[in-house]
Amino acid sequence: MLNQISSHRLYSLLSSFIREIMNATEPDLLLDALMKIFQRFVDCESIVVLDNDLNVKKIKGDTAEIDEDLKKMIQWVMNNHSPMSLPKGDAMIHIFPLVKAGKTLGVLLAWSNEEIVVETSELLRTFAFLSAVVLENLELYSSLQRQHMALEATKNYMQRILDSFPQHIAVFDQDSRIVFANKGYSLSSFGEDIASKVTQLVQKTFLTGSRQTLEVEEGANFYSIVAEPIEYEGQPQVLLVITDVTNTKEVERLKAIDQLKTEFVANISHELKTPLAAIKAYAETILMSIEMLDQQTLNEFVQIIYKESQHLESILEGLLDFSKLEQRMMTLEKTTFDLTGLVRETMRSIEELARSKQVRLELLTKEPVLIRADQKRIKQVITNLVNNGIKYSKEDSQEKYVRVRIERKGDKVLIEISDNGLGIPKEYHEKVFERFFRVGTVMDHRVEGTGLGLTIAKQIVELHGGRIWLESEPNVGTTVFVELPVGDER
Ligand SMILES: Nc1ncnc2c1ncn2[C@@H]1O[C@H](COP(=O)(O)OP(=O)(O)OP(=O)(O)O)[C@@H](O)[C@H]1O
Ligand SMILES: [Mg+2]
Repeated sequence: MLNQISSHRLYSLLSSFIREIMNATEPDLLLDALMKIFQRFVDCESIVVLDNDLNVKKIKGDTAEIDEDLKKMIQWVMNNHSPMSLPKGDAMIHIFPLVKAGKTLGVLLAWSNEEIVVETSELLRTFAFLSAVVLENLELYSSLQRQHMALEATKNYMQRILDSFPQHIAVFDQDSRIVFANKGYSLSSFGEDIASKVTQLVQKTFLTGSRQTLEVEEGANFYSIVAEPIEYEGQPQVLLVITDVTNTKEVERLKAIDQLKTEFVANISHELKTPLAAIKAYAETILMSIEMLDQQTLNEFVQIIYKESQHLESILEGLLDFSKLEQRMMTLEKTTFDLTGLVRETMRSIEELARSKQVRLELLTKEPVLIRADQKRIKQVITNLVNNGIKYSKEDSQEKYVRVRIERKGDKVLIEISDNGLGIPKEYHEKVFERFFRVGTVMDHRVEGTGLGLTIAKQIVELHGGRIWLESEPNVGTTVFVELPVGDER
């Protein structure tokens, strides 16, 4: 054994040991090297490395027993940071602490038949010290590596969860750069409109520091966009979540249609019942007492029956038109005619209704305006619009009017129908063109109607390639604009 050693030999041992421990990539290899070098100096039967808590980290040779007495000795070595040898039966047990910066990392125990001279003991102590330095670093390193792996695993786990979300999720830094995005996130799958809205929303969230939300319609799809301010390592960031809410919207739409249908059935039944009740009542009276009725009364009653059946007919015609338009079965029969003349004639036919409601009808345009269109359908549109002006006039007001103005503008004609009636709140300016929609107040006023007039008018106007819209203010009045192409008027 090398209990007595030349300095040259020592140098070569030391350098090969240092090389070995420097190459050790994990604690196990390092302890191997340490045990090996020990065996070069001391003839050992067995050699054991224990950690701080006296757990066996590594063992070579026969399993040596560590009894309570030995444990006490080991504890003493650990506390005093100095090696010790003690006899055990015929053998000796050498205990070396693995100490680094005053901290004990464990001990090395060697069972041997030899004693160790002081010089060798000092040398082995140095090896033990060198091993402890590297051991601590390796343990630190592997614990860091474990932490890093745990972090990486957590990150992958979170990413997998976020990837499985149907939402598009991304996190932006202050320069609007994406620092995180889940698999579904890709602005290129949206149109330019959404992409620019997202950018604006993210910037607004940074500016205001408060949550921003937006609903965007693109094609047949609806998206809900939420931008939430968050903080990461003291830096403000924005979490963006885009959710496709098309299905929810579709359900809402179907529910609304369902509701409208229910309202419509109630409404239309009422609409049909009123004239029918009158027809029935007058017909019954005539049947029961035809001999007692004088010619004039009889005439009056029959007139009412006739008028009410005309009303019934017009309601049914409206429904038929509506269903035709819905099924896109309405065709236009275009002729060239004078629009001013048609409007004049239409207004004349409604004059009686206007008079009964004390509404003055005025046609401001005198000169003829030729257009090529379906005369019957355009008349239907004008009838409904003027009728609305009369129907939705204010009962208590004095100077009630419905005014019509026709103006040719290039290859278009603009018809304006204005009244000073009840008016329509701004939020319903577009809704009144939807089927069956009626503003609540008109129902309170018990004005008859099915809520189809404007829908039919809009569809007829659009079939002609024109536009219809309105301006209105509650309690001031309404102006409906109809713009039609002149068409080939020759
Ligand atoms: N000139 C107007 N002034 C005030 N409200 C109006 C006017 N025109 C339309 N409206 C409102 O718009 C709703 C829809 O009008 P629309 O002509 O489509 O149906 P309606 O008049 O109720 O029934 P219909 O015309 O089918 O007999 C009306 O119920 C009313 O609430
Ligand atoms: Mg109407």
